[in-house]
Amino acid sequence: MKDAAPQTIYLKDYSTFGYIVEHVDLTFKLHPTATRVLSKIRFAPNPDATDRRFFLHGEQLKLISAKIDGKAVAPEMVDGGLQADVPDTAFIWEAEVEINPAANTALEGLYMSNGMYCTQCEAEGFRKITFYPDRPDVMAVFDVRVEADANNTPVMLSNGNGVSKGDGFATWSDPWPKPAYLFALVAGNLIAHTDQFTTKSGTAVDLAIWVRPGDEGKCAFGMEALKKSMTWDEEVYGREYDLDEFNIVAVDDFNMGAMENKGLNIFNSSCVLASPETATDGNFERIEAIIAHEYFHNWTGNRITCRDWFQLCLKEGLTVFRDAQFTADMRSEPVKRIDDVIALRARQFPEDQGPLSHAVRPESFQEINNFYTATIYEKGAEVIGMLKTLVGDAAYAKALDLYFERHDGQACTIEDWIKVFEDSTGRDLTQFKLWYSQSGTPEVTVREEYNGETFTLHLSQKSAPTPGQDEKHPQVIPVAVGLLNTDGEEVQPTMALELSKAEQSFSFEGHTTRPIPSVLRGFSAPVILKQDIDNARRAFLLAHDTDPFNRWEAGRDLARDSLLGTILEGAPHNTAYLDGLKALLCDETLDPAYRALMLGQPSQSELAGIIHKMGHIPDPAAIHTASEALRDAKARAFADMLPDLYAKNQVEGPFSPEAGPAGKRSLANAALALVTRLDGGATASQQYAHADNMTLQLAALSALIDAGKGASALQAFYDQWQSDRLVMDKWFSLQVMHAKPEDSATVARTLTQHADFEMKNPNRFRSVMGVLAMNHAGFHHQSGAAYALLADWLIKLDPINPQTTARMCSAFQTWKRYDAHRQSLIKEQLERIATQSNLSRDTSEMVGRILDA
Ligand code: PHE
Ligand code: ZN
Repeated sequence: MKDAAPQTIYLKDYSTFGYIVEHVDLTFKLHPTATRVLSKIRFAPNPDATDRRFFLHGEQLKLISAKIDGKAVAPEMVDGGLQADVPDTAFIWEAEVEINPAANTALEGLYMSNGMYCTQCEAEGFRKITFYPDRPDVMAVFDVRVEADANNTPVMLSNGNGVSKGDGFATWSDPWPKPAYLFALVAGNLIAHTDQFTTKSGTAVDLAIWVRPGDEGKCAFGMEALKKSMTWDEEVYGREYDLDEFNIVAVDDFNMGAMENKGLNIFNSSCVLASPETATDGNFERIEAIIAHEYFHNWTGNRITCRDWFQLCLKEGLTVFRDAQFTADMRSEPVKRIDDVIALRARQFPEDQGPLSHAVRPESFQEINNFYTATIYEKGAEVIGMLKTLVGDAAYAKALDLYFERHDGQACTIEDWIKVFEDSTGRDLTQFKLWYSQSGTPEVTVREEYNGETFTLHLSQKSAPTPGQDEKHPQVIPVAVGLLNTDGEEVQPTMALELSKAEQSFSFEGHTTRPIPSVLRGFSAPVILKQDIDNARRAFLLAHDTDPFNRWEAGRDLARDSLLGTILEGAPHNTAYLDGLKALLCDETLDPAYRALMLGQPSQSELAGIIHKMGHIPDPAAIHTASEALRDAKARAFADMLPDLYAKNQVEGPFSPEAGPAGKRSLANAALALVTRLDGGATASQQYAHADNMTLQLAALSALIDAGKGASALQAFYDQWQSDRLVMDKWFSLQVMHAKPEDSATVARTLTQHADFEMKNPNRFRSVMGVLAMNHAGFHHQSGAAYALLADWLIKLDPINPQTTARMCSAFQTWKRYDAHRQSLIKEQLERIATQSNLSRDTSEMVGRILDA
C-alpha cells in the first residue's frame, strides 16, 4: 500500500462523502513492529451526497482481511486507499490491518517514542492506522479497545471516558462524534500527576498529566494552567468541559507543539513539562498558553470542527485568538500584544511577502501539512481580532453564543462563521471576507491635514501582488486612532476608523490646537503603517502615548530608523532614541516586563525585510554590525544606571513563574546583557554561580558566551544537565544562536557530531538546524557554508521525517531579498534538494514553491 501520488487539491472540488459513519469500533493489539488494528464500522448511505463511490483512505497499511456484513471481500487497492462494491443500504465494514509503529519515524499515525506508543492523526494520519474516510466532515462515535503486554505497557489511553481496564487491556468510549483526525491512543509505562476540576454545572472531571517515570516533578505548573483554562472558558465564553476525564500526555518525539485530540491531548514534552530549575520564564508562559490553546480547541475545533482542510483557520485562528485573550487576562495585556506583534512580524510578514504567501483560507494545496503556517494561525487570529474591533465586544459575544448554539456537532466553513456575525449584527461582511481570500500584507499610508479647527487623517491602502494574485481589492481595515494634545493628554480617546476604500479621509472637528495622532493603536490590523513623521514626534509619542502598544511602537520605530541610518548611510545613532529610552527605563511606574520590551530592537532579519521593501539589497554583515553597535551604544549611554536597574529587579524568595517576578527577571536579564558589554562578563559569571533557576542560569550563560568567556560554563552546564533532554536542547541551541557569523556553520556542524545529537528527535534537530537558520548573519554568511549545511541535513532528514523537513525549508523563503551571490548559493542548495530521488511530497511542494519566487 503506497502513499498517494502528489496532486493539487482544490477547495472548489469539495463534495460530500457518500456515506455516514454511524459507529466505529477499533481494537488495537499493540506490538512494536507488528500491531494489528481491527476495525468494525457501520456505514449508511448519506442522503445529502450524490457520489456513492466507496473509497477509504489508507497508507502504509498491510491489509490482512476485509469483510462486508460478515462476508469476506477483496477490495480493489487504488492510489492512497481502497475501493469496494457495497450494498445500497446500511452495512458493516470490517478490516484487519497490520502496521509497524517502531519503523514510523515520520511521527504521523501510530509510532513509538522512547518505548511508548502514541498517535498523531491531524491532518491525515489516521489513514496510516486503518482504512477510513479520513476527512474532517465525517464525524463518528468511537469505541476503542487496546490490548498490550501488561508488563511493558501498563497504561493504555484513548479518547473519551475510560470504560474498563484489566491485565493487558483497556476500553474507552467517546460519546461525542468526531472526525478521525481527533483520534488518539497512547500506551506505555507512564505515571500520572492527577487533580480534579468541578465544572460550573457541578460535574467532577478527573484530570491527569501522564509522563515517563522521572518527569512527574515537572507537571504541577501545567496542571494549574489547565484548571485556569477550564475556569476561564466557562467565565468568558460560557464553555464547559464535556467528559468525565481529561488526559494530557507528554511525548519526547513530536513534530509540532501539541494536539487537541478529544479528551486526550498529546503534547511535545517541551510544551508541558516545567520546573523552576529546568524551564525559563518564557517556557512557563508558552506552556500556559499551549495548554490553554489545546483545551480551548475542545469547543473551537472539536465540538465544532472544519468541513475540509481549507477551513483550517476556522479552528486555528479562533483558538489562537482565544488563547491570546487568556494570556492577556492571566498576565499583561500590552505585553502580550507586543509579544504577538513581534512574532507576527518575524514569522507571518516574511511568509506573506515571499513565495510562500497564501490566503488565510487557501484555495489549493498539495500537502496539507505544509499549511500549518503563521498565516493560518497568527493572521487567522488577527482577522478575528479585527472582526471583534469592528462589531464591538458585546456583538462579538453574542455572535459567539450563536456560533456555538447553531453549529455544535457540525463540520463548518468560514461562510458559516461569517454568517453568524451577519445574522447577529445585521451587518454585511462581504468585503470583510476578503481577509480570508486575499493574501499579502496591506500597506496603509497616513497623511495629516489641519486647518485651525478640523484635523483630518487621509488614509490610503495598497497591497502588492502575491503568488497567484496579481490584482488586489481594498479591504476593510479597522485603524484604531487616538489624539493627544502637546501636553500628552488624550483629547480623543481611541476609536476605530473603518478604512474600506482605496483612499478615505476622516475628520475630527473642534480642535483649536493641532492634535497629535496616535495611529493603529494596539496594532488594530495586520498591516504595514507608513507615516511620514519625524524623530521629535516619535520621541513625543515614546514619552506620552496613552496607548501602551503605540508607545512601545514609537520606540521601535526610532530604533529601526536609527539602525537603517547606520546601515544605509553610515549615520551615527539617534540620540533622541537613546535619551527617550533612558527616561523610560528608570520610570518605575512602568511594568518591568514592558520596560524590558522597550529595550529590544528590531531583529536582523526584520531589518533585512524592511531594507528589501525600501528597494535596497540587505547586507547581513552590515546589519549585524549595526545591531551590535546600537547595543554597545545603549550600554554606554545607560552605563550609570544599569547596575541599579539590575539590582532593583532581582527577585527575592522562592521562585514563582507568575508575570510579576518573571517581568523583573526579564528586565534584570536585559540589563545584564548590556552590562556584559561593559564589564566583560564579571556580573554574568556571578549570576551563573548563584543562579537557582533556569531563567537566570541561561541568561548568564548567554552573556558569558557573548563576552567570549562561555567555555567553562558551557561544560559545567553540560555536566549538570546531560540527562535532561529539554535542558540539553537549550544547550545545543544556545551555542548556535550566540555563534559569531563566521563561526555559525562550524559550530552547528560540530554539534551535529556530538554524541547527544539525535536527528530523529525533532526538538533536537531544530535546536541545531532551526536555530542556525535563525542566526541571521551566520546563516547568510557570504561563504554559503550554512546554506550548504542546512541543505545537507534536510536531505538526510527528509526520508525519515518529511513534515519537519518541509517546515524547515522555509528558512530559504526570503532568498530573493539578498544579493546575486547569495541568491545563487541558495538556489544551488534548493535545486540540490529538489533533485533528490524519492523526495517527499511535503518537501517537494515547499522547495518547488520557494524556487518559483
Ligand atoms: N492542531 C494542533 C494545534 O494547533 C497543531 C498540530 C497540527 C499538531 C498537526 C500536530 C499536527 O494545536
Ligand atoms: Zn490549534
